[in-house]
Amino acid sequence: MKNFTSVHDISNPEILVQEALELKKNLYGFSDLGKNKTLGLVFLNPSLRTRMSSQKAGMNLGMQVQVINAGQDAWNWEFAENAVMNGTTVEHIKDAAKVLSEYCDVIGLRCFPGLKDRDEDYNEFVLNSFIKYATVPVISLESATRHPLQSFADLITIRENWNKPQKPNVVLSWAPHIKALPQAVGNSFAEWMNAADVDFCIANPEGYDLSKEFTGAAKVYHNQEEALQNADFVYFKNWSSFENYGALPEVKGDWLLGEDFLKTNPETKFMHCLPVRRNLEMSDAVLDSSNSLIYQQANNRTLSAQLIIKKILENSL
Ligand code: CP
Repeated sequence: MKNFTSVHDISNPEILVQEALELKKNLYGFSDLGKNKTLGLVFLNPSLRTRMSSQKAGMNLGMQVQVINAGQDAWNWEFAENAVMNGTTVEHIKDAAKVLSEYCDVIGLRCFPGLKDRDEDYNEFVLNSFIKYATVPVISLESATRHPLQSFADLITIRENWNKPQKPNVVLSWAPHIKALPQAVGNSFAEWMNAADVDFCIANPEGYDLSKEFTGAAKVYHNQEEALQNADFVYFKNWSSFENYGALPEVKGDWLLGEDFLKTNPETKFMHCLPVRRNLEMSDAVLDSSNSLIYQQANNRTLSAQLIIKKILENSL
């Protein structure tokens, strides 16, 4: 069994992108691979893209696909070992993961962080508890700290939009929001960019630095304008504070780009994983510009999921 939960589960992201681009030319060429196999998609949290693209990926490979909104429709899960379950939880993760493994050959799990207990979230308590008891390969559909299928789709999208000999200059920019959001997309994107053949830096307000575990050697700017000079790709995403875990420290300055940036930077491409709060995180002008890659990213979600599932079925991840 081999799971896919981060960039560390693959050997080289750039080679994986080339394999994905080959697969894109022949999306329906492996529809026998998944015959009589079942893909289970287990959602503890909402989703549009991950749900639909993962279903499509499994179906493209000839798999049967079953989806459960476990956060709403399933019995309330208990995670504590040796728990006396005399409270609100009805089924232990041990039993749920083992039973789901009886029905499915590959399982995708979405489990967002609670944003209350940093150690619990950053130790991937829920994902690792599930993996511990599942007896089939598990794919992360976004966990407490990472969103690997999204980041892989993002790297594919960058490669599809870059044909110059030099490395592209990629910037991950924090974007405004009204709610405390996880760091998972930002963490994961940073991890994949650090492993890819790109020049990478991050822009975020003071108080919003991501964990070094994910950002590594990437330079972190607290001034967006400075970071975006010479950017070929800007990836916008909001996240709450890692340091003051889950908090929303006060932000100085305007982090929303509009028409002015488009005029002075006509070559820069814009990315976001979606869903996006228009005119809060990104302006209509930027999202709807010809340099926006948001729908191509969404399209590549099927491709990233399909290649990973294909490799798991071939047992060659
Ligand atoms: N980008 C992404 O994961 O979208 P969903 O939350 O809708 O799946």
